[in-house]
Amino acid sequence: MSWAIRVANPADLDGIKRLCDAHRNELGFVMRPSLVSAIERREVLIAHDADQHLAGFVHFHHRRDQQTTLYHIVVDPKYRLLGVGNELVQRLRESALGAGKVFVQLKCPVTLPSNKFYEKLGFRLVETEAGKGRPLNVWRLELAPSGV
Ligand SMILES: CC(C)(COP(=O)(O)OP(=O)(O)OC[C@H]1O[C@@H](n2cnc3c(N)ncnc32)[C@H](O)[C@@H]1OP(=O)(O)O)[C@@H](O)C(=O)NCCC(=O)NCCS
Repeated sequence: MSWAIRVANPADLDGIKRLCDAHRNELGFVMRPSLVSAIERREVLIAHDADQHLAGFVHFHHRRDQQTTLYHIVVDPKYRLLGVGNELVQRLRESALGAGKVFVQLKCPVTLPSNKFYEKLGFRLVETEAGKGRPLNVWRLELAPSGV
């Protein structure tokens, strides 16, 4: 199976929102207006297959300081364990480097299998914090230009 990654556009919104709603346990409730403004700021990347079906997305924010925050990442179950999530994170990494950021950080409920995914991709566990409803792992990926 092959796929490509690009910056999301407004026509992708419904598909992204559907993936969010299907993963409320993992992501919590993601509000449509927050996705709309993230797409406007070019802070959502999507993976799609040859037929333009949405395979996954990553929603992030380049902060004013050294951090890029990864808010949400989902790969459609049909496309999992094929490297789509990895490639979304690599493209996010490039975008963060291009924006002059030093690390990518995210919070993930401790009980989710996706903690293993972040560990595999080289994220370092910074701490575990209380969170509102459940404890959250704070994962950080340090960025260094390739070859350094
Ligand atoms: C987490 C998620 C995005 C991973 O996407 P994916 O496309 O399946 O990941 P990849 O195929 O790129 O996997 C990259 C590596 O992580 C590993 N990995 C991925 N998911 C894993 C899991 N659930 N458990 C253990 N390892 C996992 C893969 O085996 C692979 O390692 P390898 O290179 O040694 O083979 C996907 O499982 C998902 O959408 N989960 C539901 C939503 C979610 O939990 N989001 C995060 C909220 S904090």
